[in-house]
Amino acid sequence: PNLSDIIGLPDFDWAARHYLPTKNYTYYRNGAAGEWSYRNNLEVFHRYRLRPRVMVDITKIESTLPTTILGHNFSAPIFISPCARGAYGHQEGELNLLKGAAAGNILYMPALLASYTIEEIAAAKAEGQVVFQQLYLSSNDTETQDLLDRSKAAGANAIVFTVDSAADGNRHRAARYGVGSADSEYTYITWDYYKKVSTMTDLPVILKGIMTVDDAKLAVKNKVPAIILSNHGGRQLDGSPSSLEVAIEIHEKAPEVFKQIEVYADGGVRYGADVLKLLSLGVKAVGLGRPFMFANVFGTKGIEKAIQIIKHEIAIDAANLGVGNLDKIDPSYVQWTPNNWM
Ligand code: FNR
Repeated sequence: PNLSDIIGLPDFDWAARHYLPTKNYTYYRNGAAGEWSYRNNLEVFHRYRLRPRVMVDITKIESTLPTTILGHNFSAPIFISPCARGAYGHQEGELNLLKGAAAGNILYMPALLASYTIEEIAAAKAEGQVVFQQLYLSSNDTETQDLLDRSKAAGANAIVFTVDSAADGNRHRAARYGVGSADSEYTYITWDYYKKVSTMTDLPVILKGIMTVDDAKLAVKNKVPAIILSNHGGRQLDGSPSSLEVAIEIHEKAPEVFKQIEVYADGGVRYGADVLKLLSLGVKAVGLGRPFMFANVFGTKGIEKAIQIIKHEIAIDAANLGVGNLDKIDPSYVQWTPNNWM
């Protein structure tokens, strides 16, 4: 496959399946157990129909894609979610993701368990490039302080503390192919510990892996500046909800959360319309993991193309949906009664 053959984001999965050694591809592709959550992340978007409005002035839609994430400016409400082991896709690993994100002016969240160190990634940043550093933090204060200090010294603009991995994911597919599955570390910590962590750094510490309205409300209560609704790409707990389902739950039971803190989401996002459905509920930015890891088989050019594709799809889908200004999208653009044929 050539980069010119890539039409949409799912084509990067197809290309990577052809290019990569089976073990490398399998590590990226894997979901937990029977992979129900992995599939549900992809399929859930099709359960909710759009309600396109017609005869709306959409001439300026493209100019309304830029947004802020925790006050930083980006060209679109999308980001590269943190994924471990970038070198499984390309020898330059995370450096390509970083450079592609800079070229497309979107946010990149490097993973702690990356193929390059926090410092190596920082050294390759573009002038003024904003990155949010993903960390797993244990209740060992010395280790935690060290990771927070390294992230700060490397110029990270925020910490993404992943909290959906209290234990290993149950990764059958990876085990079958004899590939180590870990992209998480035990992170058995509590809300009390979050309070402590937030006093150990002056960087904002956001939480990744919120899966219920209950915990979203607790995040507000504990003064978390932002949360990422995520089930880790369906890699941790099979049966966990997709971020769209969690966003719907928040919309129904505590819609004020979307105004109280910034809410981001990831998992299964492959098309412009998927992004629009999340944004319509009040999600501020949407992350993609595997599509970028697979795009990396083409190096930085692949990352840039992936960004172009999703941005273009957001713009044309918004236009066809009758959304003239992305800031103004709201839940009325989606039929929230799910299709009953799926
Ligand atoms: C991940 N994810 C992840 N998350 C995290 O917080 N720390 C990590 O180290 C990793 N590692 C990782 C490796 C690989 C190969 C994948 C595919 C995913 C989860 C990631 O941040 C994100 O939540 C999902 O990838 C989003 O789902 P999609 O876009 O891959 O469907």
